Amino acid sequence: MKVGILGTGMVGSTLGSKLIQLGHDVRMGSRLANNEKAMEWAKSNGPRASYGTFSDAAAFGEIVLNCTAGTASLAALTAAGAKNLKGKVLIDVANPLDFSKGMPPTLAVCNTDSLGEQIQRTFPSVKVVKALNTMNCKLMVDPNIVSGEHDVFICGNDAQAKDGVKEILKSFGWNSIIDLGDITAARGTEMVLPLWLRLMGLFQSPNFNFKIMR
Ligand SMILES: NC(=O)c1ccc[n+]([C@@H]2O[C@H](COP(=O)([O-])OP(=O)(O)OC[C@H]3O[C@@H](n4cnc5c(N)ncnc54)[C@H](OP(=O)(O)O)[C@@H]3O)[C@@H](O)[C@H]2O)c1
Repeated sequence: MKVGILGTGMVGSTLGSKLIQLGHDVRMGSRLANNEKAMEWAKSNGPRASYGTFSDAAAFGEIVLNCTAGTASLAALTAAGAKNLKGKVLIDVANPLDFSKGMPPTLAVCNTDSLGEQIQRTFPSVKVVKALNTMNCKLMVDPNIVSGEHDVFICGNDAQAKDGVKEILKSFGWNSIIDLGDITAARGTEMVLPLWLRLMGLFQSPNFNFKIMR
């Protein structure tokens, strides 16, 4: 598969490297065509890795991952271009964390709306699937970092798109994938971030995850 990754941070590089290990071709996008982190990432990931602008990465990908800062995601996706994203599956991993008033961050959107929904509304032809945003990026691609069975949540309006994303998650090693329904469920998965951040402070480690017991 050809995958476009929007984002040069630790999430973009971790997911990009995992997808390359799994045999996919990945282009990492940034505001700049020659972002240093993207160039370094491509160099260390071999011939299947390439880099460019957000627009280059979105045009390249049969599927696209949003791994940009949540408060900048709409701007990054606008730069990626509606025509390059049209009809594609977009896995939205971003959280709308606002660090402008220091720590802990607040949610830039919550309760009656979410970043996932804002993206879906702004790009109606895109099949937005919110996934993986409730855990650290190392765990996203290696669930065995935390022992035992634990959960990854997904939501989105398009059932076929979610089926495709479930296959990708399985290829990362996920067994317990909880499909929460349509994209409005992104409110809940984004609003667990204050709890996640608090737990991270308590445990002094990002190596934990949620498990829903019934
Ligand atoms: N860190 C984790 O383990 C983790 C876990 C779950 C979810 N998340 C979420 O995943 C996303 C990525 O996190 P991260 O830590 O890898 O990286 P990040 O530092 O949150 O975001 C980096 C990306 O955001 C882009 N960006 C920043 N400001 C921008 C602006 N004004 N306009 C357009 N693009 C802008 C950067 O573009 P340039 O490349 O041009 O600099 C870069 O590609 C975030 O939404 C985060 O909340 C992170």
